[in-house]
Amino acid sequence: MDSRNGSVSETPLDAEIESFFDSAPPLKDSAGIIKKLKEFIEYNSTPPGKGSPRRVVCVTSGGTTVPLEQRCVRYIDNFSSGHRGATSTEYFIKAGYAVIFLYRRGTFQPYCQSLPEDPLLECFECSEDSTIQVRQPHTEAVKRAVSDHHAAIAGGHLLKLPFTTIFEYLQILQSIAMSMKDLGSLAVFYLAAAVSDFYVPWKSMAEHKIQSASGPLDMRLVQVPKMLSALKKEWAPMAFCISFKLETDSKILLEKAEMALKKYRMHMVVANELSTRKEEVTVVTGNEKILVCRDKTQADSDVEEPLIELIVGRHSAYVKDSDL
Ligand code: PMT
Repeated sequence: MDSRNGSVSETPLDAEIESFFDSAPPLKDSAGIIKKLKEFIEYNSTPPGKGSPRRVVCVTSGGTTVPLEQRCVRYIDNFSSGHRGATSTEYFIKAGYAVIFLYRRGTFQPYCQSLPEDPLLECFECSEDSTIQVRQPHTEAVKRAVSDHHAAIAGGHLLKLPFTTIFEYLQILQSIAMSMKDLGSLAVFYLAAAVSDFYVPWKSMAEHKIQSASGPLDMRLVQVPKMLSALKKEWAPMAFCISFKLETDSKILLEKAEMALKKYRMHMVVANELSTRKEEVTVVTGNEKILVCRDKTQADSDVEEPLIELIVGRHSAYVKDSDL
């Protein structure tokens, strides 16, 4: 029987997960990624001097793609600008956490919010002696972005790992979780990425570009197993886990978030509606529904600041309880 239906045996879900990983294309530079993770976690567990071990959070950000061809020309995408993940990363680092930022290539990056997006080159000019200078209106923003970003990287508090496809995302997430297992309750997962629910298994995927001359496209997508169960049960069972629930229909949002909390035994589920996601979210826990809003009296405020403050407080209580 399947645990997702509330019944007893876990085998079918485990088998689905195994089959997903067995059929996925091998992850490029898997050994290099595992080495970086090991070094990052070791460094933050035993920081130089007499510092106590840092808490480590894995922040996932951006949407995963589902390729339709092995030599991919076309793909299905999941919406996420990466704004939530990038901004949350900044607040976690500010709160003293080390962050493993698992992000979709090309999405928002930490410390880049106040830089002009289009085009970034607008920020710079070339002077007569060929040196590059920052143009006046952007000087402060560029200075802040560069120094905060460099401080996070040089201080060993930010490790960035990119993904594009659902295969890369789940393989890297598994490596991260297994590397963080020994951190126990000091580990946090903040799963803000928008993850595909359906995919084409690698082995049944067309190798070359699908030809339109063959007529209408008839394609069967298989369900992506929910990895939250594996994460919670096996990969990092002591970690503090926060998942997200995104809906466009506010009437079903909280009910779906509560279901996810129970089914995957998350510590918190952050419920957000697509159109208001930058203004407010509702944090669902075992016995509360906490509305978290952006401070609307401040033009440049964001909802991530009070959200991360709430999460850090709850995680601290969890660490304390686990030590007893
Ligand atoms: O990036 P922005 O533009 O700032 O927008 C932020 C956001 C709206 C994308 C973000 O706040 C958010 O809600 N992210 C989760 C979106 C999502 O995929 O929701 P879901 O209901 O499909 O999945 C719920 C949870 O299950 C997620 O935490 C996901 O990581 C997890 N999941 C999903 C599918 C799957 N096969 N396995 C999973 O573990």
